[in-house]
Amino acid sequence: SGPKPLAGKRVLITSGPTHEPIDPVRYIANRSSGKQGHAIAAAAAAAGASVTLVSGPVTIPDPAGVETIHVESAREMLAAVESALPADIAIFAAAVADWRVAEAAPGKLKKQAGAEAPALALVENPDILATVAAREIDRPALVVGFAAETDNVIDYARAKLARKGCDLIVANDVGGTGVMGGDANTVHLVSADNVETWPTLPKSEVATRLIAHLAAMSKAGS
Ligand code: C5P
Repeated sequence: SGPKPLAGKRVLITSGPTHEPIDPVRYIANRSSGKQGHAIAAAAAAAGASVTLVSGPVTIPDPAGVETIHVESAREMLAAVESALPADIAIFAAAVADWRVAEAAPGKLKKQAGAEAPALALVENPDILATVAAREIDRPALVVGFAAETDNVIDYARAKLARKGCDLIVANDVGGTGVMGGDANTVHLVSADNVETWPTLPKSEVATRLIAHLAAMSKAGS
């Protein structure tokens, strides 16, 4: 067991990619294993929180002791997140597709000899993190976003923090190889007035430390 710094707290986490349908058999997706988000959900549960995990399609198992809601698309993810509110802490680790196909075809698109390839019209998906951070009545006290950057990691994270209205950005440096789908992560914790850089750590350790960090922040803020 161990200490339970999040006992009595509700934590909401998104994880994994989203799949945006083109037709019944094809989709657009982001590359995400869900490993980091799922590890955070497990760490929050271990810290005594009541945890809801909203997961896109992943191949890893649901974490033990966590209520897991499975969704496919960004719009389904937003709806599941909104119905899981209120929460004390919300952590958006999902790799949400920025665009979806404007009108998914109801039947499988057929390849026809000599015919032109179909053009896909895309429309922007809702930004789940920004939407939740902007809620007036039941905005979680701590809203945490992720940012994957290859360069100017801290500057871009600061800009993202302000643009999305969140309290903390966990910026991962994906300039090296192996972060995507791998078991280790190098992160910087960027808030309005502070930057903390952690060594390269297993995703499970990043999760445990992040939860300890958020427990301390939420104690300081309450
Ligand atoms: O803008 P960008 O996609 O880099 O921001 C990443 C952060 O925003 C992540 O925390 C991600 O989960 C969240 N996000 C979201 N909904 C989107 C796009 C990103 O919640 N449509």
